[in-house]
Amino acid sequence: MVVTFEPQDYLSEKAKSRSQSHFAVLDPETAPPGFKPHPSPISFHFGKPNEGFFPIEQIDLTLADFPFQNYLKSGITNGSLESLLNVKGRSDAYGQNQYTETNAEWEKVYRRGSGSDNKAKIPKKGASKDLIDLADGLQYSEYRGYPQLLNFTKQFIKRLHNPGYEEWDTFMCQGASDGLLKIADVLFNEGDIVLVEEFTFPPVLGQIAALGAIAVPVKADLSTKAGNDGIDVDYLSNLLESWGDVYPQYKGAKIKAFYTIPTGQNPTGFTQSDETRTRVYELAKKYDFLILEDDPYGYISLPPYSAPERALSLDQFLTIDEYLASHLAPSYLRYDTEGRVLRVETFSKVFAPGLRLGFVVAHKKFLNAMGKFQLLRPPSGTSQLIFQNTVEKLGGVDGFINWILKVRETYVHRKNLLYHHIKESDAYKKKYVDIIDPLAGMFMSVLIRIPKDEDQEKKMGLLTWKLIAHGINAVPGIKMASDKSFSKDNANFFRLTFAAAENDAEILEGAKRFTNGVEDFFNNDLNY
Ligand SMILES: Cc1ncc(COP(=O)(O)O)c(C=O)c1O
Repeated sequence: MVVTFEPQDYLSEKAKSRSQSHFAVLDPETAPPGFKPHPSPISFHFGKPNEGFFPIEQIDLTLADFPFQNYLKSGITNGSLESLLNVKGRSDAYGQNQYTETNAEWEKVYRRGSGSDNKAKIPKKGASKDLIDLADGLQYSEYRGYPQLLNFTKQFIKRLHNPGYEEWDTFMCQGASDGLLKIADVLFNEGDIVLVEEFTFPPVLGQIAALGAIAVPVKADLSTKAGNDGIDVDYLSNLLESWGDVYPQYKGAKIKAFYTIPTGQNPTGFTQSDETRTRVYELAKKYDFLILEDDPYGYISLPPYSAPERALSLDQFLTIDEYLASHLAPSYLRYDTEGRVLRVETFSKVFAPGLRLGFVVAHKKFLNAMGKFQLLRPPSGTSQLIFQNTVEKLGGVDGFINWILKVRETYVHRKNLLYHHIKESDAYKKKYVDIIDPLAGMFMSVLIRIPKDEDQEKKMGLLTWKLIAHGINAVPGIKMASDKSFSKDNANFFRLTFAAAENDAEILEGAKRFTNGVEDFFNNDLNY
């Protein structure tokens, strides 16, 4: 039997029942015979305030050339870093990378994509076609998002992931959380099964549960052995093969989707290999489920840990071609030949979360269903106009990739710094902790080697309080378990992020507090 993929078959009852009409618009089908529309009608129907009522005449943007540019200019690689790094005999290495206008190598990287100046003006009216002016951007907008952004996101996806079928499109939303909410709404009926990673982003679990669907965990492999990418595909395959035996209570239920964070996974930090993605996609075809790919961190690709010798390594600063060819992990879109993958993107991690802006990439039929849900809930026009006018100033798709490379480079340094100082700690040397080296994103999970015969859950709970007392807040794995009883013996890790720190010194102080706290806990016979 040949199964032809039809998106319509996966829609929830709610999604199927929605119509897409606006109360202010008449259906042309109902016009009387002989009706002739007026060539230049006056709009008395939509409640759109004329832009003359808007209290802003112009917005001036001043863009950053580089993340933390003020530190760079005053020398992020200042003398204190050497002592913080505690690496002997390398004093000259740090000074070399200090940004100065006379350092030609730095200048090239620093200015890449910044253009001749870093100012952009957003006028009330009359912006060129790729920009959004205030008359448009502060107005009610098209529910799918502004055409300029739809065009940008489409070009961006083509350049970076290029889906393997024709009928895909993009659709703006208020960040990934909102995209996921709208996807869940149009897909899940009560009783549908959604496979999720054992440890995952908890708000999505709430959305699944709110619709009466059931999240079922897929086992995570948290070992630090080379080549492990965190997801146990054999487990997934066996689970699907013997579904009714493993979950007799869900026998016959529709397995609708697998929700996955494949790159720089939250919380574990793992990145699925090419082979894993191929196998998972094949399973999706065989067992006929969708893949919901949530990928906020994928653009922040990180090389395997290497000891930080200086603040930012110019030799690791990639060209766009290098980045695309051998650093960026492939999206599931690359494997998709029929529209089985719904990908959620966000600008929260590579632009700013306060924009509440992201987009969904999926088969047009899924986006149409989402459109009916989104009719009066498009993302903020202000966010869209700030984003669009900024990326155009940066130089469009490639300009934005250049900005991402700058963000990425800064994260590479931060990861290496945090990893290094945990690795150099006594807690590591005494094998109390082990580190999952993240190959993307902003999270590093540190495994706590609590002896097997101990109550892992209880000891992790105590250690969490110990760490708080040492002045370090980290997320214990169990807090991100999709099913706490399923994971009670597998959750002995903490998720640390190297994103929020103000500077290097804070990362190093955090690593010190964390490892001291762990050591203190072990020295005290695993008691508070
Ligand atoms: C896996 C995952 N999905 C979604 C989000 C939410 O992203 P947004 O800010 O775009 O809503 C996050 C943010 O932390 C996340 O880690």
